[in-house]
Amino acid sequence: MGSGAGDWGWAERRPVLFPFLLSLFCPALSEPLRYRIPEEMPEGSVVGNLAKDLGLSVRELPTRKLRVSSEKPYFTVSAERGDLLVSGRLDREQICGKKPVCALEFEAVAEKPLNFYHVNVEIEDINDHPPKFMQNSFELQISESTKPEARFILGSAHDADIGTNSLQNYQLSPNDHFLLVNKEKLDGSKYPELVLKMPLDREEQKSYHLTLTALDGGDPPLSSTVQIQVLVTDANDNPPVFSQELYRVGLPENVFPGTTVLRVMATDQDEGVNAEITFSFTEAGQTTQFDLNSTTGEITTRNTLDFEEVKEYSIVLEARDGGGMIAQCTVEIQVLDVNDNIPEVIFQSLTDVIMEDTRLGTYIALLKVRDKDSGDNGEVTCKLEGEVPFKLLTYSKNTYKLVTDGVLDREQTPEYNVTITATDRGKPPLSSSTTITLHVTDVNDNAPVFQQSAYLVHVPENNPPGASIAQVSASDPDLGPNGQVSYSIVASDLEARALSSYVSVSAHSGVVFAQRAFDHEQLRAFELTLQFW
Ligand SMILES: *[C@@H]1O[C@H](CO)[C@@H](O)[C@H](O)[C@H]1NC(C)=O
Repeated sequence: MGSGAGDWGWAERRPVLFPFLLSLFCPALSEPLRYRIPEEMPEGSVVGNLAKDLGLSVRELPTRKLRVSSEKPYFTVSAERGDLLVSGRLDREQICGKKPVCALEFEAVAEKPLNFYHVNVEIEDINDHPPKFMQNSFELQISESTKPEARFILGSAHDADIGTNSLQNYQLSPNDHFLLVNKEKLDGSKYPELVLKMPLDREEQKSYHLTLTALDGGDPPLSSTVQIQVLVTDANDNPPVFSQELYRVGLPENVFPGTTVLRVMATDQDEGVNAEITFSFTEAGQTTQFDLNSTTGEITTRNTLDFEEVKEYSIVLEARDGGGMIAQCTVEIQVLDVNDNIPEVIFQSLTDVIMEDTRLGTYIALLKVRDKDSGDNGEVTCKLEGEVPFKLLTYSKNTYKLVTDGVLDREQTPEYNVTITATDRGKPPLSSSTTITLHVTDVNDNAPVFQQSAYLVHVPENNPPGASIAQVSASDPDLGPNGQVSYSIVASDLEARALSSYVSVSAHSGVVFAQRAFDHEQLRAFELTLQFW
């Protein structure tokens, strides 16, 4: 906004309170970190030092892998300093249109441990658009019998900027016969009205040339002009008169094309062709949605309407009689919201690895719900389907954390299909579900177990040396290397050196081999204790 431009610097920051305490005791900040920057900053501009504002030190950055998670890549985080950088074009008009406050909300994600932080960057308007008229010139016919104070709506200009940078007023070139009044529509936009100051006399002056200027409130202000040719017509002609100066109507957004919006009416006191009225739109811009029957004055929808795109239309109509006299009226059409958008669930961040020994309450994912409808139609609640060891916690409006809420055991359940349903409060409500598959990662939490606690082996004497005499077997339900079993002999009632001359065990297969021929007289039985790992 104009007056603040001088003291912007690059960014205005509201630092977090006690960031280091929060990083110690609080897994994530629920209050967003706020920055404010002007629109159209060049790529690479620093918005703020995100790492510092989150209480992370530069040394931690390589392990914490600070990054941003958002639907559109407007920002990145520099790996070296943890600066939040502009990485895409920030055109406020394109991102937010006419919204009075334009803020981009996204999450900063840090790993080890996984934390999410809300970031809110407000994009401020700069005066980068002048007001613009639809045409360069137009003509207005006014009867010389028109009484002073008669009003004529003139074509308005449009300015894509907001606030004081948007169109502020209209000015008319100085003249004796006309003055200009600045008027405001329902939506706050301004339009000019020409007022006749004194009677016109066609015999004295047939036409007037006026210049209309539209100005915004920027510093410096931007402007544009349009030329107006006023033609004075003969007194024995009366202009048409609309039954209302302003027509207002509400229309649900789901009406079919061709639906009647309303019918405007105009009368003319003249006779014959001078009383034949035809209707037309005056401003081309906003009329692609509607058709006008030039004879009956009936307005119908041409295309489907979308409340989420345009909430209100303001149209200026003209009634023209056979003598060329005109009258104008304004039609304001308010589009009414219908619950026609299904709420969506969007995963913002998902941990790569969920270890089976994960503690209760560990973050798994951050998810957002979105519904383009407004009011109750856009109010969404979110829930988790079925019995799963996870739960949803509200993080902030329309944002939820998915956290663990039970013991995980990969050996029992290696994966979960987690279904999240979002439902709005429309009547009837709309809902949608999203399912993700979460894989549980193995931890070496199971010891191997022998299939038998004891093996009794009978070996005939005079066996050939090197013969396999038994096989032991243990199993381990863990995965990969965690589940591989090796065997070795750890103890025996035979003395160690003697033992190795009698038997050995294959570490890999658990097969026990006789190392020599056994002699029944000499050795009747011995015991072995085997170990696996
Ligand atoms: C999860 O869904 C996939 C795909 O529908 C299916 O193949 C898999 O068996 C499901 N897993 C579980 C644990 O239900």
